[in-house]
Amino acid sequence: MQEIKIELTKNKKAKPADQSKLGFGNYYTDHMFVMNYDEGEGWHDARIVPYANLALDPAAMCLHYGQEVFEGLKAYRTPDGGIALFRPEKNMARMNLSNERLCIPQLDEAFAVEAIKKLVEVDEDWIPTAEGTSLYIRPFIIAVDPHVGVHPAHHLLFIIILSPVGAYYPEGLNPVKIYVESKYVRAVKGGMGFAKTGGNYAASLKAQDEADKAGYTQVLWLDGVERKYIEEVGTMNVFFVIDNEVITPALQGSILGGITRMSCIELLRSWGYKVTERRLSVEEVAVAAKEGRLNEAFGSGTAAVISPIGELKWDDDIMKINNGEIGPISQKLYDGLTAIQWGKAEDKFGWVNRIK
Ligand code: COI
Repeated sequence: MQEIKIELTKNKKAKPADQSKLGFGNYYTDHMFVMNYDEGEGWHDARIVPYANLALDPAAMCLHYGQEVFEGLKAYRTPDGGIALFRPEKNMARMNLSNERLCIPQLDEAFAVEAIKKLVEVDEDWIPTAEGTSLYIRPFIIAVDPHVGVHPAHHLLFIIILSPVGAYYPEGLNPVKIYVESKYVRAVKGGMGFAKTGGNYAASLKAQDEADKAGYTQVLWLDGVERKYIEEVGTMNVFFVIDNEVITPALQGSILGGITRMSCIELLRSWGYKVTERRLSVEEVAVAAKEGRLNEAFGSGTAAVISPIGELKWDDDIMKINNGEIGPISQKLYDGLTAIQWGKAEDKFGWVNRIK
């Protein structure tokens, strides 16, 4: 495994004074990890350096054609003063899936996990300790060849940055209102919907902006062909509880294979719930809501954790879910999952990767 050189900063930044007001993505730590890829040489020059602006050629390909991928995971301060990561090897495996789709060279997954651990260790005094807070880890890869012709890059950077965060949505664990999107589409099978790449998020901005103006927190995407089947919420995967069966859209290439999604399915099944991964039409959800069989709905994601859905708007149909309150399954999942992540419950599944 290659060596990681470390250059410590001489100018440590002031940390946010009030951990209850961190929000999401507002602060960055003192250091970052950087590694270069050059064709013929592979990934090389792994280093941790003071957090700083990047110098990029204005023709750098990532700025023009969006050849980039990213990941999101968190480090948690455990009650014994330790540091825990949640299934980081799954994130790095997913990053390589995204890399494959975007013609980006594969990473050594074990080495990438080591790089994350080393960086978090260097900046460990940035891990917040207030209830519900953590250190968000954002690994990403960008194509940097200075070339405005369209082709897969020969030169790239793998970078990891860290951000102390609280809840992603201002609502916290209060239910969010979601707008079912019937005009725009996010992804189609054969596209890049399953990859974690900026283009998918750029494609969501217009719909997100319109939903926001209508008073909704996020957009629920439908499939791009028939505009009937539920896909995901862009920042999270979704689950619906109908007649006490937990249903989540199957992974068919157009939605992200969430690591929180996968963990929710495993946890729910271990508790004896029936969980089904299948195609689910918005119509089926609307009918269940009308007939009083839609028990609850929630989203899952690294940033969003478990986010109950209190209202769905599908054209003129406004579905109130569980009286706009958090349901028992969402609450149990939030409690069960976060207890494992923060090291407060036994890690029966072997999901926790301790740094110390
Ligand atoms: C995450 O949950 O880690 C994400 O990447 C979602 C988002 C903040 C884009």
